[in-house]
Order: sequence, then C-alpha cells, then structure tokens
Amino acid sequence: MVSSSSSSSMTTTALTLLVLLLSLCYLSDKLLAGSDASNSTTPNHLHHFMNQRLHQAYFALQAWKHVIYYDPKNFTSNWIGPFVCDYTGVYCANSPSDPSIQVVAGIDLNHAGITGFLPDDLGLLSDLALLHLNSNQFYGFLPSSLANLTLLFELDLSNNRFEGRFPSVVLSLPFLKFLDLRFNEFEGPLPPELFNRDLDAIFVNNNRFTSVLPSNLGGSKASVVVFANNNLGGCLSPSISKLANSLEELLLINTNLSGCLPPEIGLLYKLRVLDVSFNQFVGPIPHSVADLFQLEQLNLAHNNFSGTVPADICALPKLANFTFSYNFFCEEEGLCWNLTSKGIASDDRQNCLPEKPFQRTKEECDADLEHPVECLDYHCSIGGGGQSPSPAPSGHY
Ligand SMILES: *[C@@H]1O[C@H](CO)[C@@H](O)[C@H](O)[C@H]1NC(C)=O
Ligand SMILES: *[C@@H]1O[C@H](CO)[C@@H](O)[C@H](O)[C@H]1NC(C)=O
Ligand SMILES: *[C@@H]1O[C@H](CO)[C@@H](O)[C@H](O)[C@H]1NC(C)=O
Ligand SMILES: *[C@@H]1O[C@H](CO)[C@@H](O)[C@H](O)[C@H]1NC(C)=O
Ligand SMILES: *[C@@H]1O[C@H](CO)[C@@H](O)[C@H](O)[C@H]1NC(C)=O
Ligand SMILES: *[C@@H]1O[C@H](CO)[C@@H](O)[C@H](O)[C@H]1NC(C)=O
Ligand SMILES: *[C@@H]1O[C@H](CO)[C@@H](O)[C@H](O)[C@H]1NC(C)=O
Repeated sequence: MVSSSSSSSMTTTALTLLVLLLSLCYLSDKLLAGSDASNSTTPNHLHHFMNQRLHQAYFALQAWKHVIYYDPKNFTSNWIGPFVCDYTGVYCANSPSDPSIQVVAGIDLNHAGITGFLPDDLGLLSDLALLHLNSNQFYGFLPSSLANLTLLFELDLSNNRFEGRFPSVVLSLPFLKFLDLRFNEFEGPLPPELFNRDLDAIFVNNNRFTSVLPSNLGGSKASVVVFANNNLGGCLSPSISKLANSLEELLLINTNLSGCLPPEIGLLYKLRVLDVSFNQFVGPIPHSVADLFQLEQLNLAHNNFSGTVPADICALPKLANFTFSYNFFCEEEGLCWNLTSKGIASDDRQNCLPEKPFQRTKEECDADLEHPVECLDYHCSIGGGGQSPSPAPSGHY
C-alpha cells in the first residue's frame, strides 16, 4: 500500500488519515445500519444523532454557505436542513471526548472551485480534525476564531487566494501535524514558531513570504519543508542543521537566497532531496554535501556556484539526479565528468567546463574568475534577520 521507502513521518500521517477515513466510512455505515434498524420505531426527523454539537455545526455551515458566492460544482447546494452529516464534503464521526455522539470531524472541499471566504462562525466547528480546501478561490484573511478548532490535525488551504501575514492562528492548534499554505498570497515574514511546532510537513511555497530562515529552528520535526517561490532573501542560515533529525526534503527553489551554502547543510543526514535552484548562491559546493548518504536528487542549477564539482558527491550511493547547469563550475572531478555512465541523470550545461559542449563563453567565465568569492565575508546574522553583504561585485572582492 505505502512504499516502505517513503518518508516515515509522511507514512504516519497517511496512516493516521487512512484510519480516520476508515473510521468515518465505518461510522457512516453503522449510522445507516442503525437508522435502518430503528426505522420502524424512530421517525426520521428525530434522528438520534442530532445533538448540540451538530446543531452548532449547522449554524457554522449555514453562515459559511452565506459567504460562498460562487459554487460551480454545487458542493454546497445540499447544505440545507439539520442533517449536516449528509452535506457534500462534510464528514461526521464519533467525538473523541464523548464517543456516544456524532460530530463534524472533517470537511473536504478540495477542487470545488468555490469563491467565498471563511467567516468567524467557523470557530463553532470545534470538533474538526481535517479541513481540506485545496484548489478553491477562498480569499481574505483566516479568521482568528480558527483557534477554537483545537482538534485540527490537517489543514490544507493550498491553491486559494488567502492573503495577509502568516496566519499565526495555526500556530495555536495543539494537534496540527500537516500544514499546507502553498499557492496563496500570504506575505511578510515566516514566524520562527513555525519551526518549533511538531509538524510533519510544512508547505509554504508559492506565496510572498519575505524572511530568511529563523535561527531558532530547534524543535521542528518536519520531514518536508518547501519554501520554494517566495522572496525570502538573505542567505541560508547555518541553523538549518537543527532540522537534521527529521528533514528529508528541502526545497528552496527561487527564493532569492544569496551567499554561500553553509557547510552545516552536510549535517542534514536524512536529506533525500535538496533543491536550491534559481537563487544567487555563490562560492563552492561545500564538501560536506558528500556526507548526505541518502541524497537522491541534488539540484544546484541557475546559481553562481563556482570551483570544482567534487568527486565524492558524484559517488553518493543513492544519487539519481544531479543537476548543476547554469553556474560557473570549471572542473568536474572523477565520476562527475560522466554521470550518465553511472546511470545518474545530470545536466552540466552553461558552466565553464572545458571540453564540454554548451558552456558559457570565455568572456563570461573570465569575468567570474575575476571576482573570487570569500564565503566568510557573507555573514548570516544569527537571530532571524539574516543578511548578506551587498552582492554588488564592486565592493570587497
Ligand atoms: C424503513 O421505512 C421505510 C418507509 O417507511 C420502509 O419502506 C422500509 O422497509 C423500512 N426499512 C426497515 C429496515 O424497516
Ligand atoms: C448546479 O446546479 C445548477 C442549478 O440547479 C445547475 O444548472 C448546474 O448545471 C449544476 N452544476 C453542476 C456542475 O452540477
Ligand atoms: C468555540 O467552541 C465552543 C465549544 O464548541 C463554543 O461554545 C464556542 O462558541 C466557540 N467559540 C467561537 C469563537 O466560535
Ligand atoms: C532579494 O533579497 C535581497 C536581500 O537579500 C533584497 O535586497 C532584494 O530586494 C530581493 N530581491 C527582490 C527581487 O525582491
Ligand atoms: C551571478 O552572475 C551573473 C552573470 O555573471 C552576474 O550578473 C550576477 O551579478 C552574479 N550574481 C551574484 C550574486 O554574484
Ligand atoms: C533531474 O532533475 C531536474 C531538476 O529537478 C529535472 O528538470 C530533470 O527532469 C530530472 N531528470 C530526470 C531524468 O529525472
Ligand atoms: C559517458 O558515458 C557514456 C556511456 O558510458 C557514453 O556513451 C558517453 O559518450 C559519455 N559521455 C561523455 C561526455 O563522455
């Protein structure tokens, strides 16, 4: 079912989700069976699962429907009447605190294409464990009343038009494991607390977040962290190494990062995917990258890296794709010279590699050589506001 090689914490999430879904299915079966059995004695309109919590959910869902302006797939057209468990996209289950009653435990409106926003009344859905709103046109701010959803386990708001600063309300949710804010219009800094939470996965890519990685990355247990396509700026803080015990995928594509890659990156011993492409990184590849024995995908393309491509990295046992095109490398050591002969996908175009085709011009390469990089001159300030010196080549070099 789940490949044994896949990330263990993601598997845990998937399994938990599966268990939850199975129990939801089981419950709805039981409900149907129950209502059939009691058919003869209980009139339908006094359905035994109506209770105060469902009543509260009814108010929340009606208020929500009221601020849904466009619902092209008619997800909410049956959101009428007291039987909220029958509403499309609404899933009920036994309350963990009181197994004798039904509560609204999940809402899944993925790919509904709905336009609308999230009203304060959603705070009434205090039994919700899953909220999936992927690929809609929800906009505006997240209501602070979401802090009331203290059982929330998975929050997927990806591919909507939510805006405003990082929705810090999500940081107050004690059981949250999976946070997906991808493809929205959030802006401003990422709060350091995000990395001190016990989240399995953090997806914040394709927003307008603007901050460097905070230095206090201590408690994060995330196995996947995707920052791609934000304007983080600054450099990659050495504190990234604090994610070593969990991090398996680090995606920093197109995040306006500069400076040198810190050698501490080599401490992320579980890393399978490292992608820093489309930034302004300079200097050599740290030799410590050769310590990442789990590494399968390494993408350094479209930066200003220079120097040699170290043989030890090309010999990493699990390496399947090493892309380093569009840099200023001038030598490929050992195996790196012909990775395809080892069955490793690679791309070394647009560098300064003599004897290789599709390289930069001599003029471009000479210009780069005239500005040797001194990594120690690039300071990443510790304390969240990381800085690199002006990348303008006019200064110190
Ligand atoms: C439930 O009630 C309906 C309508 O009154 C009836 O047709 C059906 O046979 C009943 N089912 C059971 C299991 O009693
Ligand atoms: C949604 O409901 C409207 C009105 O009942 C109907 O015209 C439309 O075809 C429905 N759309 C879909 C995708 O079912
Ligand atoms: C939070 O949940 C509780 C319990 O369900 C409810 O009584 C209260 O009104 C909710 N608060 C908000 C702000 O929605
Ligand atoms: C990229 O980040 C730097 C800070 O490192 C900032 O000065 C610059 O404005 C950013 N670039 C863009 C296009 O925003
Ligand atoms: C990267 O190289 C390009 C092309 O030579 C140059 O224009 C740019 O200033 C360099 N950027 C950095 C950050 O060194
Ligand atoms: C290798 O990785 C690059 C960059 O992510 C990607 O564009 C390319 O398709 C990959 N090649 C193969 C054969 O998977
Ligand atoms: C790399 O090796 C393969 C097979 O071993 C060979 O076909 C190919 O020409 C080599 N490439 C280069 C650039 O030498």
